[in-house]
Amino acid sequence: MDQFLIEGGRPLSGSVGISGAKNAALPAMAAALLTSERVTLHNVPRVRDIGTLRSLLDELGVDSSVTHEDHGNRVEIEARQLLNPVAPYELVKQMRASVLVLGPLLARFGHARVSLPGGCAIGARPINLHLKGLEALGATITMDHGYVDARADGLKGTAFYFDTVSVTGTENLMMAATLAAGETVLENAACEPEVVDLGHLLQEMGAQIEGLGTGRITIRGVARLRGARHVIIPDRIEAGTFLAAAAITGGEVTLLNVEPKHLAAVVAKLAEVGVEIDSSAPPPPGARWGTLRTRNAGPLRAADVTTQEYPGFPTDMQAQYMALMTQAEGTAVITETIFENRFLHALELARLGADITVDGRRALVRGKTPLSGANVQASDLRASASLVLAGLAAQGETVVDRVYHIDRGYERIEEKLTKLGARIKRISEG
Ligand code: UD1
Repeated sequence: MDQFLIEGGRPLSGSVGISGAKNAALPAMAAALLTSERVTLHNVPRVRDIGTLRSLLDELGVDSSVTHEDHGNRVEIEARQLLNPVAPYELVKQMRASVLVLGPLLARFGHARVSLPGGCAIGARPINLHLKGLEALGATITMDHGYVDARADGLKGTAFYFDTVSVTGTENLMMAATLAAGETVLENAACEPEVVDLGHLLQEMGAQIEGLGTGRITIRGVARLRGARHVIIPDRIEAGTFLAAAAITGGEVTLLNVEPKHLAAVVAKLAEVGVEIDSSAPPPPGARWGTLRTRNAGPLRAADVTTQEYPGFPTDMQAQYMALMTQAEGTAVITETIFENRFLHALELARLGADITVDGRRALVRGKTPLSGANVQASDLRASASLVLAGLAAQGETVVDRVYHIDRGYERIEEKLTKLGARIKRISEG
């Protein structure tokens, strides 16, 4: 298992290109199952989760190819036929987002068999709403041997209310509804930019969708969808992580290929703690996306934060923000409302010298405490990012173990950080 060796205490400086959003690319790849024609995706990040979804497509008997481009990868998928409707446990347990094939397979082929994801480090994360919604669309769902078996003889439009806002739940039902007969209305739908990006791809494929980016999405089913070409949006969480990395080291960094609109909550919170972020710089000629420049106005000040659905402060930035608050003057209360067990990084941060008390869904971070390098273990994707940030701010050497978590969702993070002046090395074992 690979490790990162970090020699902390150096302010970051320079510019870094932000990759395409993993959480937008995954549903976009699943959407390709809705048509027999070719779907071409650009700006797909080079991260492990994308490889896992390609392995799943392979299992299903669906061809995909990857080509290296200037900005990320081009992924082409042509789902002419389906050889096998099964998403096996070995792949679903590696990546819960595998469940995104359920809606498309059911809508186009009338049958899907997907392993239940089981527990995960950050909480129970059930898929009950995905299943309830598909049932409302007319599917028959049974469970056996740890698998969900979904069958439908043509889905029918419906009105469905999400008890809890669910990102992949909204994506699954939106995809299924594109080929259902009649109109589907999804209430309390997720408004995340990744859901909107998927909606844009589906529209390019011929789907009729209204209300993207609002809590009420209306889909009028069509008989068939066609191929399309689509550019994936920039990864707002990777961007937020680099903003936090610059801030925790007291550095000055320019982020290229970002969409500042998607980062409003993060930028507002960082401004509150004393980070200056400027989005007025013009993007380089020909660039599709914007630029953000960041530097600290002075010492960091603590500020409370509560995670919320978009456009609130993202749960996927909570761990990185916690690392940052260890270096701010004062006490910050961090409230996690989306997942019930997402503070595993707190104990690891404490090993580096942080003063954090966790009480249920609240964490109290008392700053500023000096951090000193130690051995720490990553528990999930964003938790590992927070440990890397803390390692960059710590005196001496930090070893982050189990970096396969970080490779799931960050493209060559050690190379990008090295380019910004960090001392970070990957140690590969075996
Ligand atoms: C997605 C993101 C993940 C992010 C999360 C919240 C992808 C691939 N992953 O995950 O990075 O952290 O959104 O922004 O896009 N829930 C239920 N029943 C369900 C579905 C969800 O109770 O059927 C609950 C979950 O347990 C959780 C909450 O709803 O408490 C939100 O989860 P959800 O939005 O579904 O997360 P994901 O789509 O899995």
